[in-house]
Amino acid sequence: MRCAVFASGNGSNFQVLLDRKSSGDIGHADFVLMVGNNSKAGAFDRARARGIPALHIAPSRFPTEEAYAESLLSALSGAGVELIALAGYMKKLPPAVVSLYRNRVLNIHPGLLPAFGGKGMYGANVHRAVIEYGAKVSGVTVHFVDDEYDHGPVILQKAVPVLDSDDEQTLAARVLQAEHECYWQAVEAVAAGKIKVAGRRVIRLELQD
Ligand code: GRF
Repeated sequence: MRCAVFASGNGSNFQVLLDRKSSGDIGHADFVLMVGNNSKAGAFDRARARGIPALHIAPSRFPTEEAYAESLLSALSGAGVELIALAGYMKKLPPAVVSLYRNRVLNIHPGLLPAFGGKGMYGANVHRAVIEYGAKVSGVTVHFVDDEYDHGPVILQKAVPVLDSDDEQTLAARVLQAEHECYWQAVEAVAAGKIKVAGRRVIRLELQD
């Protein structure tokens, strides 16, 4: 499947996808486009280094959300995109994009949903909330995107311990490591058609190649 990656920041998850593509672990997704809302995002450098077309599309530059959505949709259709992987993308996707790409937009959240998710729950805010709550585990959730923040069907989760000695930075580093271990697997499974969505449940199909 032709896949676009949306990223707002450093892009380490994007880099892992590119590396897993190079190593052959990702065989069913081709990364054909990167979209970012922040022109200073490190993800742009990573795209450039691989010769992947990268577009800066900032919602603030458009008079309406509809105009922003149209710009995204035209970029996506121009590149023939079939699958979207959000990798640290800090903007909410417009409903027109979500509905056209129903069950074809993945997001990675640095916490175990449905806890510590929702509007404003991103990056360090998640890790701070986990530590302040006193939770003993945190982790990663990869899910499909629907119209609510951090809400669509869960594709996979991976837990990591919260240690007594943790601060936001040490917990963030452990969670990010887990993100790098599992996001590419979800992208590959979806691109390979190895999963089925039944209501909120995402079921892994065992297909013969
Ligand atoms: C990750 O923690 C991801 O879960 C969140 O944003 C962060 C992105 O990190 N959505 P990077 O830009 O991939 O390094």
